[in-house]
Amino acid sequence: MSRRRPRRNVPSDGPFTVDRRFQSTLCTWFRRVRRPLPWRQSRDPYRIWVSEVMLQQTQVATVIPYFQRFLQTFPTLADLAAAPEEEVLRQWEGLGYYRRARSLHRAAKIIAAEYNGEMPREAEALARLPGIGRYTLGAILSQAFDQRYPAVDANAARVLCRLAAWDQPLGTSATQSWLQATAEAVLPAQGVGEFNQALMELGSLVCKPRNPECLLCPVRKWCQAARRGIQEQLPIKARQKQPCTIVEAGVIIRHRRRLLLVKRCADAARWASLWEFPHSPLQDHEDLPTAVRHLAGNDLGLNIELGRFLGVIAYGVTRFRYQLHVVEARRICGRLRLRNHEEARWTKPDELANLPMPSPQRRVVRLLGAQPLKCRS
Ligand code: ADE
Repeated sequence: MSRRRPRRNVPSDGPFTVDRRFQSTLCTWFRRVRRPLPWRQSRDPYRIWVSEVMLQQTQVATVIPYFQRFLQTFPTLADLAAAPEEEVLRQWEGLGYYRRARSLHRAAKIIAAEYNGEMPREAEALARLPGIGRYTLGAILSQAFDQRYPAVDANAARVLCRLAAWDQPLGTSATQSWLQATAEAVLPAQGVGEFNQALMELGSLVCKPRNPECLLCPVRKWCQAARRGIQEQLPIKARQKQPCTIVEAGVIIRHRRRLLLVKRCADAARWASLWEFPHSPLQDHEDLPTAVRHLAGNDLGLNIELGRFLGVIAYGVTRFRYQLHVVEARRICGRLRLRNHEEARWTKPDELANLPMPSPQRRVVRLLGAQPLKCRS
């Protein structure tokens, strides 16, 4: 009869489980090494909420100055709820994924109006607020109120996949449900917020995507991937789509010492409600002057005289690589009408700083600064 012991914690449909020593070892390590991040200084649910929304898809180092400035401008949930959307977007400018900011603002208004300004502590109520998905809900309830909810960001997901040597690709529904079930199964009874943060911190400082520092890992003895030497291969990445290049024509149209800016629609998939200089993708075989005249005529109802070429702004959004070629122009005639935008404004150059703009458009403003406009008309 075989006396081989069954392998433990091998991927299966069930969650990976751990003992109490795993939890206490991880939390002891966390207390020793944790970074003194500004949102870790209190358990104020508003601060935790703002930080967690900012930290989605954004690095800690990028978030820190934004978080500090945002909290200075809107120190309380009531301040945020009372602010105009344009100001909230301006504070968010550069962080990207502006839908997060608009949802945060809308949710703050709802909390101010319907919950007396107090963040709800019930999961059902929180989950009904705009922008609060499973991750944010778990992060707020566990960190602010020590409720037993997991919070699995990309760092925690990597740690869990390696601990259990989970070998199915990220992004599949099987992996999503396994991660959620596993993250719940490993939670301690108390100190849940600290434990969730410890998992994320481990992913960020030790169990890194490349060159994980297994020899420094406090929970190495629980790790199936390290035991089998396959930590570098895990987690299995979701299949990446091919990159794609898009060439765009952009135009700065001037008229009476002002520049034309247009506001993106509130339901735009990206950069909704932000201001930008008119631009659009070049059609096949179209040259830049033709594209810009088309853009001005078809989308804005304006006849223009082309001026100088100002430069090219290269930027990336997900798998798309954009090259935005920018020219200046002067309005000759025509009545402004909008096809793809919500609003247009002839803006004084010194007002540009107050309008929320996507980062690539802010770089267009800098192009302008490098080559000041000679406003003839
Ligand atoms: N990533 C997401 N949430 C975080 C947090 N609270 N601290 C550090 N990194 C994080």
